[in-house]
Amino acid sequence: MNILCLNGPNLNRLGKREPEIYGSETLGDVEARLLKLAKDNGAELAFYQSNHEGALVDRIQQAAEDGTAGIIFNPAAYTHTSVALRDAVADAGIPTVEVHISNIHKRESFRHHSYLAPVCIGQISGMGTYGYDLAMLALLRMGKGE
Ligand code: DQA
Repeated sequence: MNILCLNGPNLNRLGKREPEIYGSETLGDVEARLLKLAKDNGAELAFYQSNHEGALVDRIQQAAEDGTAGIIFNPAAYTHTSVALRDAVADAGIPTVEVHISNIHKRESFRHHSYLAPVCIGQISGMGTYGYDLAMLALLRMGKGE
């Protein structure tokens, strides 16, 4: 199973960025852990981060063509603004799990709404970076038809 882990704006700063909210792990730490989890489960993982909405749209379109079977997606601030990313996920038709490190429902009201959630199979929010692992485990299980 080929899985894509996609991360939106400012997540390249993970570990340095507001550590009281997002923790001290870097995106590289998350990537290394997910690569191991994928390998242990016989899956392939591609990892991509961009601060640019269009680049994320391009990467989702690429996934729709390259046999990607599941997407773990933290759209970051674009969660709350982007019809373009929602349309890209809907068009790709790839099972997608929306992940947020922080609990967006406990924070400012503008973070409570997600444009992406209605086109994702589910949302994981507030479990720290472990949310990425949980998303991968869910996709692996679904990929086996369980
Ligand atoms: C985030 C939550 C978003 O509201 C915020 O804009 C982010 C990160 C999270 O992982 O908790 O950049 O997606």
